[in-house]
Amino acid sequence: MAVLLAVIAYLCVLAAGQDDNLLHPGWPTCSTTGNYTDGSQYKKNLNLLLSTLSAGATAGGWFYNSTVGAGDDQVFGLLMCYADRNGTQCHDCLTRGPAGIARICSGSRSVSAAYDACLLRYSDEQFFSTANPHKAFYVYITAGPVDQVSMAAARSSLMDELAKTAADSPLLLANSSTPYPGSPEGMKMQGLVQCTRDLTAGQCTWCLTTYIAKLPEAFPNYTGGAIKGYSCYVRYQIGAFLITLPPAMPPPPSPSKPAPPG
Ligand SMILES: *[C@@H]1O[C@H](CO)[C@@H](O)[C@H](O)[C@H]1NC(C)=O
Ligand SMILES: *[C@@H]1O[C@H](CO)[C@@H](O)[C@H](O)[C@H]1NC(C)=O
Ligand SMILES: *[C@@H]1O[C@H](CO)[C@@H](O)[C@H](O)[C@H]1NC(C)=O
Ligand SMILES: *[C@@H]1O[C@H](CO)[C@@H](O)[C@H](O)[C@H]1NC(C)=O
Ligand SMILES: *[C@@H]1O[C@H](CO)[C@@H](O)[C@H](O)[C@H]1NC(C)=O
Repeated sequence: MAVLLAVIAYLCVLAAGQDDNLLHPGWPTCSTTGNYTDGSQYKKNLNLLLSTLSAGATAGGWFYNSTVGAGDDQVFGLLMCYADRNGTQCHDCLTRGPAGIARICSGSRSVSAAYDACLLRYSDEQFFSTANPHKAFYVYITAGPVDQVSMAAARSSLMDELAKTAADSPLLLANSSTPYPGSPEGMKMQGLVQCTRDLTAGQCTWCLTTYIAKLPEAFPNYTGGAIKGYSCYVRYQIGAFLITLPPAMPPPPSPSKPAPPG
């Protein structure tokens, strides 16, 4: 038995080693209890969900949320691209992220994964519309000498304004730039804030302001930085970075009329 297990483990290592197409998230959170088993209804529902998310987000403006199954085997999920990645990077992530996650977090009923270009979440619990800003991952983009006081002031007014604009926008996303005081040749500071599109405006605001409040301590003297979470994303940088807004979404199906009272 022990020998057999060793052989299986060896074969798995070989298979993993050969699988160059597996996209690895930077920061996966994989649940470790109540794991689903091979052949279970949950696994079937999850596989269907993952392919639905991939197709839906690719077709529908780089965001999609969906639900598959019922009762204990119901699975909820969402998938979204970060707007500071281009169409090619987004498409790659929307395709390979869902395709590989069930192997990276094999057995986990609940997974949150932040990739370089996209964000993927699924769970056996309904998590839509509510933000989870409790985890925050810091991305140090550029370092350089700065006047910390004027940088912090420019950043906070830019980012506070963006948080307000994003919460009022259909994409729950906002970007803008502001002249950066004291920089050579009128360089600008650019900002981007983005929430997952299932959130309410209030939850989006809460998530963004939670992260914006962390910027001064996390990036006192960085000329560019970002905080990635499982519900929202904030990034600032002195100088420009590329933003690619999602393509227009197909019109949503017209809502069905409410059933007459009876
Ligand atoms: C997208 O970005 C990647 C990485 O920066 C780059 O290699 C690629 O050429 C870009 N693709 C397009 C279509 O802009
Ligand atoms: C559940 O799956 C995760 C991998 O995503 C693994 O780390 C964990 O050990 C598993 N838990 C149990 C009890 O098997
Ligand atoms: C940023 O500040 C920290 C601590 O105040 C210091 O150790 C570091 O060298 C500074 N980095 C830059 C790029 O100025
Ligand atoms: C936000 O980014 C888009 C896409 O790059 C750009 O067209 C637009 O001008 C930017 N908005 C602002 C206010 O800078
Ligand atoms: C997507 O999320 C919204 C909340 O923003 C929710 O009302 C809707 O039911 C979800 N869609 C699916 C297919 O689960």
